[in-house]
Amino acid sequence: MFIFKESGDLQKYLKTQAKQGFSIGFVPTMGALHEGHISLIKAAKSDGGITVASIFVNPTQFNDPDDFKLYPRTIEKDIYMLEKAGCDVLYLPEVKDLYPDGLPANEQYDLGYLETVLDGKYRPGHFQGVCQVVNRLMNAVQPGKLYLGQKDYQQCMVIKKLLSITGSKAEIVICPTLREQDGLAMSSRNMRLTKEQRINATGIYKTLIYLKNNIRNNTWAVLKKNAGDILADHNLVPDYIEIADADTLELLNTVQNENQVVALIAAYMGEVRLIDNMIIPLNFVPYGN
Ligand code: PAJ
Repeated sequence: MFIFKESGDLQKYLKTQAKQGFSIGFVPTMGALHEGHISLIKAAKSDGGITVASIFVNPTQFNDPDDFKLYPRTIEKDIYMLEKAGCDVLYLPEVKDLYPDGLPANEQYDLGYLETVLDGKYRPGHFQGVCQVVNRLMNAVQPGKLYLGQKDYQQCMVIKKLLSITGSKAEIVICPTLREQDGLAMSSRNMRLTKEQRINATGIYKTLIYLKNNIRNNTWAVLKKNAGDILADHNLVPDYIEIADADTLELLNTVQNENQVVALIAAYMGEVRLIDNMIIPLNFVPYGN
């Protein structure tokens, strides 16, 4: 695997590959890699071409300075995992390579409704920071395909909007959420949980399953109350528990006429904020019915 710290060197290398007819698949990350990240690398590899990963803990997307400071950094293990997965190129920039004019970055994107709900509402500025860095990374890598995880459902929609704003022709490939055996969505932030918190964190997955199994037969008021109780039983403190139209993210309190909905949760386990979601097809028949 080639490692580039500067976008100029990266671009020189990628140009020579493009001349030989290779396409580029790109997997942007913030490191502290786990199997969820690696599943994106594998998806990119299976599409052929050159697989490029990036690792950069982007300061502009952290609305909480402690979250940035405490974000896990495990670069040696990350490099090992990428090598093992057969990743071709790692772009490992420093702040000055992506933000040559320094911080904060000034550009703002009109994300409309997406910035007013869910993580847009609870993490002010977060999605602007995501767009600032993803646009810079896209300019550096210029991939044909961009691989993202469904785990960050709203982020996928935001990045889709970013690409339409910037006129990028790259195709977005959304990969399923990888989970631990007890259902907890894999996340770099899970490393920050104590043993007991880690066990209780599975309450988010249990709540999503509860919503999936009961969405047809209950009012949203009942569902929300019971979902809140499951989270509370696991010491989880929610920012939000919502169901939304899976295409538009419009929040719903009834699901009768929708084709597909997504249940989304953000909750704190101690100081650690966790998010997860589950798509619920409404032709889904709960087990046992
Ligand atoms: P990060 O949290 O490191 O995630 C990098 C990519 O991995 C994202 O597309 C995310 O959705 C995906 N991912 C995370 N957990 C996953 C899981 N359990 N299963 C499948 N995919 C998973 O998301 C970011 O970084 C940043 O915001 C970034 C886009 C890199 C911009 O800084």
